[in-house]
Amino acid sequence: MTGISKDVAALLPIEAEIEHQRLAAEIAGHDLRYHQEDAPVISDADYDALRRRLEALEAAFPTLAARAAQQVGAAPSGKFAKIRHRLPMLSLGNVFSVEEAAEFVARIRRFLDWPAEKPLALTAEPKIDGLSLSLRYESRRLISAATRGDGAEGEDVTANIRAVLATTGIPETLPAEAPDIAEIRGEIYLSHADFAAINARQAETGGKIFANPRNAAAGSLRQIDPQVTATRPLRFFAYAWGEMGAMPAGTQSGMVTAFARWGFPTNPLMVLCETPEALATHYRRIERDRPVLGYDIDGVVYKVDDLDLQRRLGFVARAPRWAVAHKFPAEKAVTRLNAIEIQVGRTGALTPVAKLEPITVGGVVVSNATLHNADEIARLDARVGDFVVVQRAGDVIPQVVEVVLERRPEGTEPYGFPGTCPCSLATPVIREATSAGVEGAVRRCSGEFACPFQRIEHLRHFVSRRAFDIEGLGEKQIAFFFDCPVEALRIREPADIFTLERRNDAAFQKIENFEGFGKTSVANLFSAIAARRQIALERFIFALGIRHVGETTAKILARAAGEWPAFEALAKRIAAGDAEATGEMQALDQIGSAVTEAIAEFFSRPEAVSMVDRLVGELTVLPAERPVGESPVTGKTVVFTGSLERMTRDEAKARAESLGAKVAGSVSKKTDYVVAGPGAGSKLDKATELGLRVLTEDEWLALIGG
Ligand code: IVH
Repeated sequence: MTGISKDVAALLPIEAEIEHQRLAAEIAGHDLRYHQEDAPVISDADYDALRRRLEALEAAFPTLAARAAQQVGAAPSGKFAKIRHRLPMLSLGNVFSVEEAAEFVARIRRFLDWPAEKPLALTAEPKIDGLSLSLRYESRRLISAATRGDGAEGEDVTANIRAVLATTGIPETLPAEAPDIAEIRGEIYLSHADFAAINARQAETGGKIFANPRNAAAGSLRQIDPQVTATRPLRFFAYAWGEMGAMPAGTQSGMVTAFARWGFPTNPLMVLCETPEALATHYRRIERDRPVLGYDIDGVVYKVDDLDLQRRLGFVARAPRWAVAHKFPAEKAVTRLNAIEIQVGRTGALTPVAKLEPITVGGVVVSNATLHNADEIARLDARVGDFVVVQRAGDVIPQVVEVVLERRPEGTEPYGFPGTCPCSLATPVIREATSAGVEGAVRRCSGEFACPFQRIEHLRHFVSRRAFDIEGLGEKQIAFFFDCPVEALRIREPADIFTLERRNDAAFQKIENFEGFGKTSVANLFSAIAARRQIALERFIFALGIRHVGETTAKILARAAGEWPAFEALAKRIAAGDAEATGEMQALDQIGSAVTEAIAEFFSRPEAVSMVDRLVGELTVLPAERPVGESPVTGKTVVFTGSLERMTRDEAKARAESLGAKVAGSVSKKTDYVVAGPGAGSKLDKATELGLRVLTEDEWLALIGG
């Protein structure tokens, strides 16, 4: 149904807005029928297709999303009360091959400095394709059940879970050995047989047909009426936990064994492995048995068994360092390559996009896929008119992986990558040299700030939700102001946004005179802009649109610098080739040479620097937010030197940064603490010379609380 609609990238903003409004209304209607009246009129697959289309529109036109948050998102979730998770419900990182899984283990060994000969046990268990659930027990009685939600807050589905205690095997009470407070987490799912029976019954009664067991499980759990949920034989596997009054075991496998003792169903396919080879063997075994398990799984999860090691490894963003999902291979489909379009990104990279005959891959309609770059097109020898294999893995953008040469039609021609940017300037395209000196695969428009595509993309990024998030200034308005017929009202760079009101006051032809703008909307726009004259440093750095500086990186950089002038000074030193400054930034956890090189490149362009200066002149950049509360080392600069005995360098750094400290690579007057282990050399000498505080590893641990 939606597969044949026009590709979102090809829509004009106004078309997108109209379609968005129509879709939102349609979805709201279905939500009402489904959730409140329990009488859906379309299949889950069709509903999902509508939602996906809506999401694609919002991804392409971010301003539509803000509106949608009020219109669509609120409706279904309003039915259930919210439960805030005492400990966040996390997600998992993915790997897609045995090699990547081995690299995951190697990374852990490096992080922990775990000797090669010392065994490192990991559990391996199926990744259940259902929905995660957190069950809270107080005084050994079930008191609440919550869905994952956004990880911080889920929906209260206690009544529905109480209706399916029998089929899920979730105990209402726990035995005396369980602690006073226990949160057991795991996956709610439906067996293939029960899923088929539910759909058969739905078909008979003219009810909603579910696309897959996971949707059916989700739909069943999120029923308004627990009586309806009671008719759906949901099942449960326990595999994780949240808050625990006391730990019944010191290992992952021991915890799961305890859960089994307390009466929870646990997956029988969990094993302990001591080598990557053993993980791979178990992965293959589960993959082989997948068709006969009787329920959907989408991979195998590996977790470090020892809970002390789990604690030491900690988390990166929203996923643990100590666990990973080894996903089964992506789903593939064959379809026709109708055209190859070139998209110009914010940084000028030209990305070829395959325009495909729409096709369903793993339950999702795909009509666009990435071809990555010119080399990839040449390697595949992909030609317009070819039949190609498209692959979709998890949430990754679909990609063209192969050409079906046997089905190549007559008269196709090798694709010639354009030598000029598709923008109005037709600027020549360049291939950059990589740091290794070889020609890079990426072609870029050499126009930089002259290329209108890049400027528009840059502005779009600047106003997007995670950056400045200016209400009323979305893609559509950016496009309008960029080429505004009244030159005095144009927005060509971020600073122009903040001078717009002054310019409008002085202009003869005013914004409110243009169609689509009224007095109120203009007033609202100006107040939305004014509200963003104060901006947090992390958002500001992210909004600059520097290559390789995404949200997480921006946050790390902002926290390390604290304030804009400090960040700017460091960035300018890096741009000037100051090795010490570069080292200081690279000493930050997760910051590598790609980031420092991009920062150097950005801050060595005079147009970029003056653009930033003009922008800063209009704003108040607020200091970075401090992470998780204050600690004795918050805001302090630490240098580790010599060998550490209780933890690895990576670990020490991650720990210190999570407490709000800044870890530097070299000693200077600004260093607050130097933690010196055996073998410390020149850095220790310099610290003594400068009269800095030098701590032993144990003193440091005592300072940060063990
Ligand atoms: S462990 C901190 N184990 O996968 C780690 N998750 O992609 C918490 N899932 O939200 C997750 N089977 O819903 C874990 N055996 C398993 C799992 C599993 C399915 C789901 C879970 C989680 C998602 C992460």
